[in-house]
Order: sequence, then structure tokens, then C-alpha cells
Amino acid sequence: MDRKSIIKDPAYGNKAEAFEAFDDIPTNPNLNRTIGDVINARYGRRDVLRGVLGVSATTALFGTSALVAPSDAAAGGHSKDRYVFDELPWGNDSTHHIADGYSADILLRWGDPITADAPEFDVMNQTAAAQLQQFGYNNDYVGFTALNAEGTRGLLCVNHEYTNEEVMFPGLGRQDRAGFAGMTKEIIDIEMAAHGGSVVEIAQGADGKWALVRDSRYNRRVTPLNTEITFSGPAAGHARLQTNDDPSGTRVIGTINNCAGGMTPWGTWLMAEENFHGYFWTDNLDGDNKPVIAEDHPEAASYARYGVPGMWYAWGRAYDRWNIDAEPNMPNKFGWVVEVDPRNPDATPIKHTALGRFRHEGAETTVSSSGKLVIYSGDDNRFDYQYKYVSNGTVTGAETFGSPLLSDGTLYVARFDADGTIAWLPLVHGQGPLTAENGFADQGEVMIDTRRAADLLGATPMDRPEDAQPRGDGTAYIMLTNNTRRKADQVDAANPRAESSFGHIIEIKEAGGDHAATSGTWSILVKCGDPTIAEVGAQWNPETTENGWFGSPDNCAIDSDGRLWISTDQGSGWGKTGKSDGLYALETEGDLRGTSKLFFRCPVGGELCGPYFTEDQQTLFLAVQHPGTDGTRDLAGFERDSTFEDPATRWPDFDPAMPPRPSVVVVTKIGGGRIAV
Ligand code: FEO
Ligand code: CA
Repeated sequence: MDRKSIIKDPAYGNKAEAFEAFDDIPTNPNLNRTIGDVINARYGRRDVLRGVLGVSATTALFGTSALVAPSDAAAGGHSKDRYVFDELPWGNDSTHHIADGYSADILLRWGDPITADAPEFDVMNQTAAAQLQQFGYNNDYVGFTALNAEGTRGLLCVNHEYTNEEVMFPGLGRQDRAGFAGMTKEIIDIEMAAHGGSVVEIAQGADGKWALVRDSRYNRRVTPLNTEITFSGPAAGHARLQTNDDPSGTRVIGTINNCAGGMTPWGTWLMAEENFHGYFWTDNLDGDNKPVIAEDHPEAASYARYGVPGMWYAWGRAYDRWNIDAEPNMPNKFGWVVEVDPRNPDATPIKHTALGRFRHEGAETTVSSSGKLVIYSGDDNRFDYQYKYVSNGTVTGAETFGSPLLSDGTLYVARFDADGTIAWLPLVHGQGPLTAENGFADQGEVMIDTRRAADLLGATPMDRPEDAQPRGDGTAYIMLTNNTRRKADQVDAANPRAESSFGHIIEIKEAGGDHAATSGTWSILVKCGDPTIAEVGAQWNPETTENGWFGSPDNCAIDSDGRLWISTDQGSGWGKTGKSDGLYALETEGDLRGTSKLFFRCPVGGELCGPYFTEDQQTLFLAVQHPGTDGTRDLAGFERDSTFEDPATRWPDFDPAMPPRPSVVVVTKIGGGRIAV
């Protein structure tokens, strides 16, 4: 289906759903190179089933071993890997729910004033100037860095991924269908001011409750409207980053679609730029509203591989910098990982090009046993890749904002082999196919066109890699959220289901327990979805109840006991499970490996982001994104699309004058203590 048809299609209840469907068209040209094909060509699928392959290859292919074989580290089970709480019943309604014995309080909402001078939120008369001093929209990543030894004061760093105009502005409605007719420059400026991120100081009172410190000198917004950002690494100053407003190719205004992220060991904040393509515009369209890019346009191949221009927002009508007709190189300045110093509001954020350019879901960090800084980052597109970055230098503890560890290192892309091993392939100019003959003049181009470089290296096309979380012992967990476009003949060992609606989770064990290693092993921890429906092909530990299984894993966290927590984003597809999105505790060790328990669930139409545990594990921050929007036609008794005037829920205020508001929720144990212990 073409773009125009999708936008007009009444099947898509809001703009996010429509563009998600349009984006469902993969851009990876290498789909004839999945390892499923290699295996099928070599053995034939029936031979695999008949057992011609050895046991290990067969289990890797079908992913069954993970559930029955306890890992060597925890044979017999470790008590630390038990989550102590009574699971929450599943459901989907207008509000949030937390397991018994815990409180889940609203900490920050869209529009809350975060500076001493900020005006109070007036949803009927919002302005960009006000929004620049207020908490942004659609909170996604949440990180925390303590300001005192007790950890009772600290800086919360929150990404604001995107905006939903249909529930933000009175009388506006969906703008993609309306040809963005209602998008004035004033509204565009408010949208831009609601994107980006927030740094806020928070403190815990004597009653254990966390609250905003509104007059803190640290509190600030980072936005695509007015925040200047510089570049580091191989692509800084590159000719393909040079624009009319920056002939040096070293600066840019703003950061967009900041999805998940990470905190560095030195307490700075990494914001991952995900769906940057959606913000670019052209006035050069064909009859189906499809962008026309000349074949000899110097960026044609790059645009095609990244989906530029996506035209999800009309910002390019008001600003040349979002319009590729005026600034053809501007898209090359987005799709990076941005470092922000939360302790210095005057520090100019940096886009670190050594980490590559793609739809970065997140940027979770760890220090390897060999002392290197390692950052795992997925490229969230159907049939795109899993990456990790390894610094050349070692972490000394003396690092500060802008550390060379983030500009001097090697980016790797993952090839998941059918024998259960993983190879990390380096994206280094001059090595293998990454040469001038193949269009890479220098390392800067390898980083600007990371996807195309990874195509040439033969990386494994995955089922939408979302968040990836390393654990200190050389283990990493990869969330593959779903991929309904994978056909039966494209199934492979690491992506074992065709038309996967519910996704799966891969566990990586790096060689020697060293996150910097270039090889390791992998297995499938769970295949998500309803285990009672045979065709779904889900696999959980049988101890998992109907409350515990989930679909579409997205973000994740490791708590200080090394335990894994998963948050979900089913989007408009939640009707397939009937469940709202939520937070699940997922056993990785011992005889309970693959057992999941529900801890928190969202109000209808929201996805769950964060999650982030404080070091003492007594506080958990969660971000409820776009409440009241996704799939509200499936909410019994409501059964229509949400609008500003008529939303499916008015969470969390339940004030008839207020639409639903994305909010950060803070979870603590009633009476105090460590969570799930
Ligand atoms: Fe912004 Fe892939 O989630
Ligand atoms: Ca996400």
C-alpha cells in the first residue's frame, strides 16, 4: 500500500499507527541474504527437522534449549534470581496498576513547570516559550545520577520521543490526513519544544516520596527548537554534514525522536535518536504523495536506506532545516547518539559519530572485564541490525563529559550464526568491503551510512532490535519486538518465526565474559505471545501464568541483583493480547529461567518506557508514553479513536478539562526496602 492510501485508510486509528504501518516496508536490500536462506540452501529445512543437523544446531534453529537448560552459572537456581512479589492480574483499563505492597506515584507530567520561572501549564493556551520551561511530551528513556552519597537527591534525565497532536491541542485532530492543514508555525514550535529531553533535580522527602526540586539550577530542557549541539568522531566536519547554516559540518540545532538511551559510567546521559527520518520534508511529491528523489541525487541511496524523508511532521514547511529541498545534508546530522552533561547546564551536548548512524533505539553502557567502555544499540527497523561499540581506551574512573572513549573506538554489527555463535563484525574503513570502490571514501562515510556498511558485511537482519541491556558478567539481552513482514522462507535461527506479532528475546554470552569480545554465543530466552495458542509458537517456562506472558518486548533493565525486567510496547496491536503494556520480571537463571511475572501495567493506549532502578534498588522509575492513544478502538465500551476532546482516558489527572498526559511514575515499596526482594 502506498503512503497516501495508508494515511487515508480508516484502519489506522491515529497518526502513529498509520506511519508505523507505512514504515513497515523494510529498507534493507539484503533480504536475500538471511542466514535462514543459507541454512535452507545447505541442509534443506526438512533435513533439519529430520535431525541431520546436530542437536546444538537444531536447538539453536528452533530455540528450545534455552528453556530447558539452566545456564552454567546458575544450575540449581540462585535465590537472587527469584523476584519476591505477588504478580499483578493482567487487564487493560483507564488507569495504571502496581503489584500489592508497592506504590506507584506520578512524579512528572507533560506540561509540569520544571524551572522556577516556568508558567503553570495551560493546555488550552500552550506556547512554545512555556513548553521550553515545562516537562516535554512522550517520556521514553529515564536515567538517574545521584547528587549525594545517600542517593536521596539526584538528576533525572528523561527523553521526550515524539508528539501526538490529536490529543495535545484542542480542535486540531489528526494532521497527516488533513495534509497538515492545521499546522501553524506556532503549533510546530510547540511540538519542537515538547521534543528532546529534560534534566530535573528530584529529592526524596522524609516520607520516602520523591518530588521535583523546581528551583534547582540543573533543571533544563534540550530540544530540537533551540539547543545547539556539536559533533565528535569520524564524521565530525565531514562534507556530508555541511549545511547552509553550518558550512563547518560540526554543529546542528537540536535532537529528535529521542527514544531509549543510557547513562555513562561517569554520570552523563546518552540520548538515542531513533526515527529521525520522519521529521524530514520535501515539496517534491508524485501523485501518491510519495517523495520524488532524483536518481543522481548524491544522497539518493542513503535516503532510500534510511527512509528519508518520512514526512511525519510538517516542520519542514516552517523551517528550511527540516526540508531536504533546502538542506539535502541535514538528515545526515540526525540518527546519532547524543551525550548531555546533566551536571553542567551550560555544556553543549555532543553527537558522537563513532557510535554510528541508524535508528538508534538505545545506548546502554557497561565496562567490560577488559576495562573497555561497551555500548549496545539496536537499529529499530524490520530486518535491521544489532550493534555494539567498544572504546579503544580503557575506563579509568577519571572520565568526564565528552570523554574520548566515546569518539575513539570500534563499532561492530552482529551476525548470529545457526550454530549458536555470534560474530561481531567491525565497521572499519578499508577493511573487507568498506572501501572507496564500494562508496566509502573514509571512516566518516562508514559512520554516516552505517546501515549500508553493515549490509556489505553480511550482518543478520533482525526482527526490529529494540533495547539491549548488558549485564556485568558478559551477558546481554536483546529485545526483538516483532516483525510481521518476515516470511516463512526468511525465518532463521535468531529470528525463528514468520509474521512474528509478539517478538522474542535473545541472550548473548560474550566470549570469556568480556563485553569487548568479538565473538560469543547466543540463545533464545523466550518467544513471546500467548502460549496456549499453538499457532503463536510462544515459549515460556511453564511456571508462567496467564498474567505473566507478554508480547512485543521493548525496553529493559537489569537491577542491582542482576535480574532482568522487561517493558512492552504492543502499539495498536494490544488487541491481539487484550493486555495493556506493562513491566514484567523475567527469570534468566536456574530452573525458573523463562518465567515471567507482571509487576506494573499501563493505562489504555500507553506504552511503558524507562524502566530505571536506583543503585540501592529502592526506587524504580517508569515512563508511561502516549496514554490514551494506541488501539483505543479495542477498549471495551470506548471503541473509537481518541481525540483531545474525547480521549479513552484522562490519566493521570482524570480532570475533565485535561487530556491524558504522558508521565513519569515512581515506584517504591510501601514502608521502604528493596524492590522485589
Ligand atoms: Fe522508540 Fe523502537 O521505540
Ligand atoms: Ca522503544
